[in-house]
Amino acid sequence: MLKTRLCHELGIDHPIFSAGMGVGMSGAALTAAVSNAGAFGVLGAGGLPAEVTRDLVRETRRLTAKPFGVNILLPLLHEGQIEACLAEKVAAIVLFWGDPTPYVGPVHRAGIKLYIQVGSIDEAEAAAAAGVDGLIVQGNEAGGHVKSTTALSSIVPAVLERVTVPIIASGGIATGRGIVAALSLGAQAVSIGTRFVASTECEVEEEYKRRIVAARAEDTVYTTIFDVGWPDAPHRVLKNEAFAEWSAAGAPRTGERPGEGVEIGALPLAGQHVPVVNYSAFPPVVGFKGDYERAALYCGESCNLVHDIKPAAEIVRDLVAEAERGLKALAA
Ligand SMILES: Cc1cc2nc3c(=O)[nH]c(=O)nc-3n(C[C@H](O)[C@H](O)[C@H](O)COP(=O)(O)O)c2cc1C
Repeated sequence: MLKTRLCHELGIDHPIFSAGMGVGMSGAALTAAVSNAGAFGVLGAGGLPAEVTRDLVRETRRLTAKPFGVNILLPLLHEGQIEACLAEKVAAIVLFWGDPTPYVGPVHRAGIKLYIQVGSIDEAEAAAAAGVDGLIVQGNEAGGHVKSTTALSSIVPAVLERVTVPIIASGGIATGRGIVAALSLGAQAVSIGTRFVASTECEVEEEYKRRIVAARAEDTVYTTIFDVGWPDAPHRVLKNEAFAEWSAAGAPRTGERPGEGVEIGALPLAGQHVPVVNYSAFPPVVGFKGDYERAALYCGESCNLVHDIKPAAEIVRDLVAEAERGLKALAA
């Protein structure tokens, strides 16, 4: 009932992408669970070396025979990372934060779809002109790194007026009602991050998931504070002591902030033990030990709608059932 043209193109049952959340937060288990449930799982390979990305793709393939994608963060691109995805013949590559032009030819020659998440009308038009197969159009409500400075409800129809490629709406969606709303705006699918952080399979610490469940939209903030490791990239996070102290100090520039360079914890990354300092862009992935009041707790305004931690398959099933009920109610 909810099947859109994009679903047919990708060979999926439901018009739902799970956001590829970086440094393996959206790992093999989450991605495969989403794809096995009939939606489109996207691996979060942002910031990972090529071999780790390749191993994650292979692990995902062991867990699902369904199509899935891989997310790549262009500012954190590792040498050979995209080539590894092409060699593994994933269904789609989903880019974020950069110019897709150099990748269109190679990705298409490998028979793979190329999507990019964009945050403005200009960026959408440029990416469509470069030849991508679809645009993930982000609203400022979104969690994680956020390119958009405007609301989803106005940017999606505005982009739709200007491009012909399919649009996937991203930001603020965590319920079936949100999916119906996005499809009504003209999107052919949605991409969901925050709701899937609070899934059993998401590879972040339980304390982070619990904080998302407890949070309201007004507990989030769109800021630039967590910039160590990825500068000049605004993001939406849960407000914590780090944010409060920085704001109280008058939001000083990077290099002049309280406690700069002080270690606040450590986490495992690609088999290594990595220290985490104040203002680090690293979120509390599984194995993080440290101060949650100083960590980057990426979270969208959709936390308003996240009330529990449950398996990703259940999330997909509930979203679809609620969207179908919503459509029926509208028709009646
Ligand atoms: C914890 C977290 C990590 C994210 N990491 C990435 C990423 O690595 N690459 C990416 O393209 N988008 C990333 N995003 C942004 C999502 O693609 C998407 O824009 C956002 O989750 C949509 O809003 P929502 O969180 O309300 O669903 C992340 C989002 C969250 C919540």
